Amino acid sequence: MSSYCLKPCDLKIAILTLIKKKAPKLYKRTEEKGTMVKKENQETEEGVKDKDFLDQTLRPSEWNEYIGQESIKNNIQILLKAASERKHPPEHLLFYGPPGLGKTTLAHLIAREMGVQMKVTSGPAIEKVGDLASILTNLSPGDILFIDEIHRLNKTVEEILYPAMESGSLDIIIGKGPSARTIQLELPSFTLIAATTRIAMISSPLRSRFGGGVFRLEFYTQNEIEKIIKRSAKIFNIEIEQEAAEEIAKRSRFTPRTANHLLKRARDFAQVNKRELDKTAVVEALSLLGIDTLGLAPSDRSLLETLINKFGGGPVGLGTLSAALSEETATLEEFNEPYLIQLGLLERTPRGRTATPKAHEHLGLKQSKLL
Ligand code: ADE
Repeated sequence: MSSYCLKPCDLKIAILTLIKKKAPKLYKRTEEKGTMVKKENQETEEGVKDKDFLDQTLRPSEWNEYIGQESIKNNIQILLKAASERKHPPEHLLFYGPPGLGKTTLAHLIAREMGVQMKVTSGPAIEKVGDLASILTNLSPGDILFIDEIHRLNKTVEEILYPAMESGSLDIIIGKGPSARTIQLELPSFTLIAATTRIAMISSPLRSRFGGGVFRLEFYTQNEIEKIIKRSAKIFNIEIEQEAAEEIAKRSRFTPRTANHLLKRARDFAQVNKRELDKTAVVEALSLLGIDTLGLAPSDRSLLETLINKFGGGPVGLGTLSAALSEETATLEEFNEPYLIQLGLLERTPRGRTATPKAHEHLGLKQSKLL
């Protein structure tokens, strides 16, 4: 270094000042302990944004309100109790599974149980090493950092995350070539909770650093979804008949987010038409949305129809299917396929995607002789 060289401690302060200026943009900070306050949910002159506001209202805030995922809940509760008895933050956790099953909700419940703040960010929001450094250095001891869509974290950032997860330090290289130097920043102790819909895209070095566990969220049962719908109806002050709740549950992809969405749309339909929220109103409302008896949305049906009508039922590669449907491969893989596979309508084979006999039957389409 030249005569302008800073002492290591000055260098540290300079870096910290720089990265702290950027921090607020990179995550949403909780204001109450364990409760996330989303900026976009605050009341504006135009009023409260309906979708986010309602989603927030429905999110369980106590463990006993969280329906389903029993095995995960039991394991997490042991982990939290043990950590709090040792007066130590819980080890890092990774949740994976299709969207809408409650990964973020679990993270909120953990923060609440631990009585700590949770800062929320996502893989694509952390573009540079400096972004991650600013987030980590702004944590308070014991905080939870929640990274959604962690599979979208870039490689350089991922490698900086390893020592932060393992030994609570951040190794930053300043400069290039022979004058490059590394500084090590001590971080406050924290628990990383990460979520992904694409577990196969998580490298094994990253995966192995989730010492608290890697948990797969399962689709809910019909019974659990019915309970969730009734709970949500109660929160919204909606009178809903048992049969109507069953019908929504049947068409909800075994997914709470979808169930709540369908409940809201069925409520709108009943309200606008001055009807009771009974089974016939639900059937009419959901048919209008193109949601069929198995809960398939128009995009699911066009995937299967394209597979059957254009490619003889498969096998066909995901890329070809995506081009034929003008739909992103990620959407097909993360949103459509898990549910179609769960219902036994689609198979992923080494040679590509195949529509099953059950898919042909559901759509009323003939099977190709080759199958
Ligand atoms: N709302 C969304 N997910 C839920 C769950 N698992 N339990 C209760 N209410 C929910």
